[in-house]
Amino acid sequence: MSEKIYGIDMGTNSLKIYQKGAGVAVHQKNMIATVKRKEKEPLAIGDEAYSMYEKAPKNIEVRQPIVNGVIADFTAMQIMIQMYFKMAHGRKVSEGLTANGNSEFYIAVPTDITEVEKRAFYDLIASSSLKTRKIRIVEKPIADALGAGLNVLDATGRLIVNIGADTTEISLISLGGIVQSRLLKIGGTRFDEAIQQAVKKKHNLVIGMKSAERLKMQLASGTREEEETTFDVMGRNLITGLPSRVTVTSGLVFEAMLESMSSIIDSIKFILEKTPPELSMDIMHDGICMTGGSTHIKNLDRLLQQETGLSIMKVDDPELTVVKGLGMIMENPEYERMAYNLQESDFQ
Ligand SMILES: Nc1ncnc2c1ncn2[C@@H]1O[C@H](COP(=O)(O)OP(=O)(O)OP(=O)(O)O)[C@@H](O)[C@H]1O
Ligand SMILES: [Mg+2]
Repeated sequence: MSEKIYGIDMGTNSLKIYQKGAGVAVHQKNMIATVKRKEKEPLAIGDEAYSMYEKAPKNIEVRQPIVNGVIADFTAMQIMIQMYFKMAHGRKVSEGLTANGNSEFYIAVPTDITEVEKRAFYDLIASSSLKTRKIRIVEKPIADALGAGLNVLDATGRLIVNIGADTTEISLISLGGIVQSRLLKIGGTRFDEAIQQAVKKKHNLVIGMKSAERLKMQLASGTREEEETTFDVMGRNLITGLPSRVTVTSGLVFEAMLESMSSIIDSIKFILEKTPPELSMDIMHDGICMTGGSTHIKNLDRLLQQETGLSIMKVDDPELTVVKGLGMIMENPEYERMAYNLQESDFQ
């Protein structure tokens, strides 16, 4: 039977909610569409709002409440979460989620952010209209590692790299705790922007972010392809101003993404250099675990392997590891200690 215990991963790109006993109950774009001056009554949220992105008239704003892994628009994020749980403004977005008393929440938060930013994730639920009995915080890298199937409790160093949409979180874990963690402001969205720029420069074509993402999904690779592949994309020609179509090559996409991929590699190397020797030995043995939606990119594991000399472990459904890890914490009492309370007194 499903209970009113939920795990929430507020990603930049998508919102994921796990319900105890039911599994992943929500996996939708983390977007909100509002009409100007009516911000409290969203026109659409989630995948429906995403379908309006880059297509809406000027009076409709479609945006992401989470930026670079932290809450950028508190009110919008709170309204959205409330809408997933109950009737709001006469509508209910998803069936089955309720928080009308006695509900518990586990919220995943990035490690390398300020206490004030962490606190906002807690406050978002605590000050919402959801009736809660308990709100617990879980460090994202811990949930991520659990969801990826790593044993986080033993005295073995584990390096986990989550490449998401706005961020890459590189974390070293041992004995159920975080030895070090770094949150980079680089991820899939940065790749999309780089592709958008490259297409503009090479083909004089202005394309939307959705088209850039499509090019990435079709053509991106961590290593240069021996045989080039191509994909057609539509946009607006900069010179004529008219809609036009061009054929983009995998080579162009690879070159566009190279700088961002290199920054990620450099940061992984930096963490490896700072890793205490005993933990380094464990990582030499077990390698690096890659999670996050951007690890779908083909041969990204090969690039990482070539650059670090370490073996790379990939997982199925890499965008869901964090929320599945929250699920494991609520389902297994032995992991309970990895969730903690944020008390008022912590901030006085
Ligand atoms: N097949 C694919 N190829 C390349 N990239 C992909 C693929 N599928 C998803 N992605 C990318 O994965 C990213 C979303 O991943 P994920 O859900 O892990 O991010 P998030 O958790 O919302 O963001 P963050 O962790 O940065 O806050 C997007 O940038 C998306 O373009
Ligand atoms: Mg994420």
